[in-house]
Amino acid sequence: MTDLHRHLREKLLAAIADLGLPATEAAGMLRLDPPRNRDHGDVALGAFQLAKLAKLPPPKFAAEIAARIAADDIIESAVAAGPFVNFKFRRGAMAREVLTAIHSDAAPYGKAATNDQVVCIDFSSPNIAKPFHIGHMRSTVLGNALCRIHRHLGATVHGINHLGDWGMPFAKMMTAYMRFGDEVELHKSPMRHMFELYKRYDAEAKANPELNEEAAQRFKALESGEDNEERRMWQLLRDESLKAFQGPYSRLGVTFDHITGESFFEDKMDAAMARVEKAGVLEESDGADVVWLKDQGIKQPCLLRKSDGTTLYHTRDLAAAFYREETFHPTRILYIVGGEQKLHFAQLKGVLIKMKEAIADAIEHVPFGLVLSKGPEGKWEKFASRSGNAVFLDEILDEAVRKVRGVIAEKNPDLDDPDAVAEHVGVSAIIFNDLKNGRIKDVKFDWDAMLAFEGETGPYVQYACARLSSILRKVDLPVPAVDSIDFELLADAERVLLTMMDFAAAVQRAADQSEPSVVTHFTIALAGEIHSYLADHYVVSAEPAVRNARLVLVDAARRLLTTGLDLLGIKAPERM
Ligand code: ARG
Repeated sequence: MTDLHRHLREKLLAAIADLGLPATEAAGMLRLDPPRNRDHGDVALGAFQLAKLAKLPPPKFAAEIAARIAADDIIESAVAAGPFVNFKFRRGAMAREVLTAIHSDAAPYGKAATNDQVVCIDFSSPNIAKPFHIGHMRSTVLGNALCRIHRHLGATVHGINHLGDWGMPFAKMMTAYMRFGDEVELHKSPMRHMFELYKRYDAEAKANPELNEEAAQRFKALESGEDNEERRMWQLLRDESLKAFQGPYSRLGVTFDHITGESFFEDKMDAAMARVEKAGVLEESDGADVVWLKDQGIKQPCLLRKSDGTTLYHTRDLAAAFYREETFHPTRILYIVGGEQKLHFAQLKGVLIKMKEAIADAIEHVPFGLVLSKGPEGKWEKFASRSGNAVFLDEILDEAVRKVRGVIAEKNPDLDDPDAVAEHVGVSAIIFNDLKNGRIKDVKFDWDAMLAFEGETGPYVQYACARLSSILRKVDLPVPAVDSIDFELLADAERVLLTMMDFAAAVQRAADQSEPSVVTHFTIALAGEIHSYLADHYVVSAEPAVRNARLVLVDAARRLLTTGLDLLGIKAPERM
């Protein structure tokens, strides 16, 4: 909430008290939102609920409120329109408030003071010994943005990589490596070698199902806890995979607070199982241990231990939920995992609900849509890279960078350090494209569209930042002190200022709904508004008082765009 909103809110509370409404209850119903049509005002109060409390028809109540809000040095007008009251702030006051707050990096534009929210974000979490699935890229990018957004709001965040480094899928890779692997190849190009092994295993296991039995045996040997061949193999393949993932992670600027994969829960599953048993919800089914969830409308039981005594993906997730509860005391645990695991997380939460565990409430699956690429006939289909369904993330990033490098060579051949700019803009374009649409929507992987310097793209927003930096460089003067300017001179920048004021609500909504696209759209809107403002308002050549005011505006737009991009995990370039 900005100081302007706070001021308005206080006046509204006084008006509501004057109308004789119960203060606390009324305060809870007081919501200020941007009006549907910005021409009607800057903020609107919907009076339905409050009118009901006052036992008045909403239009009558709205009129009573409007009559009680007198104009002052912050509020310009309060006008009832049907069941709404629309308010307008004075342009000078608005400019002062917004620009001062942005300049001093105060919340909501800067980072908020720490609050008591603790958010665990389980993201990326690829399966080791397998190339990144394109879904893991989405999870990586979405999860990274959500970590940043929650931190900005003052939450304590634990970004967790729950690597798939245990269980049958891993045992299959181990089996393939032991049969067909080559250590030299492994060290040379671990992901590619493992991908070859993965394909070979798949093909051979079709003809020779014994392979799956061998894998099951090996998993059992691994889970025995003994220091055996399987354990050494596990360590080798895990180390090589982690090293290989590190490349793309660092190019994407992604870090984790904890890399605690499934194997981390090896010694915590017995206690978790004992807890399930003690809660009296565990049942036996053909020698396996399951929890039935029919009473919650989930038909398939949650399988927690197989008849051969080995554990499963679910067992590890259950142990992880208890571990996180004990270690971090989270208010929310977000699992950024594709929609295809909906049942898995419904079952996980279901088991915890059935056990009457408080942590059940914190569990939130945050699903997302597929990535689509254009097939040979030009139709959008499930993403396939040149190497087939596997995604060598570095290959995709390289391609983006190569294309941007081409654009630079054509448009700005004198740019300093073009390779660094291309790397930066290319990688950012992929991130931006991923975070642009609502997460549940499928992402179209369309090179031309995502790399264009116009339209709703990463390069467009980055270019806006670079343009603002270039204006500041051109005047070759320090940005004037905010309180030295005449804010009235910025009345013509009301659309830019109003857009800036939307930032707080955008970040909050992104956090509440696990929807970084709201922030992405904010950056697009602000870039667009400042572009159009600058199209007919000169800065460098304006007379000094006007120039100074506009410089402060330009600087604030640059700062806020930089912050918005930063929340998405993208850096704003100085030049491009
Ligand atoms: N490794 C899993 C996969 O690739 C994703 C893990 C997600 N996190 C979790 N706690 N289950 O499908």
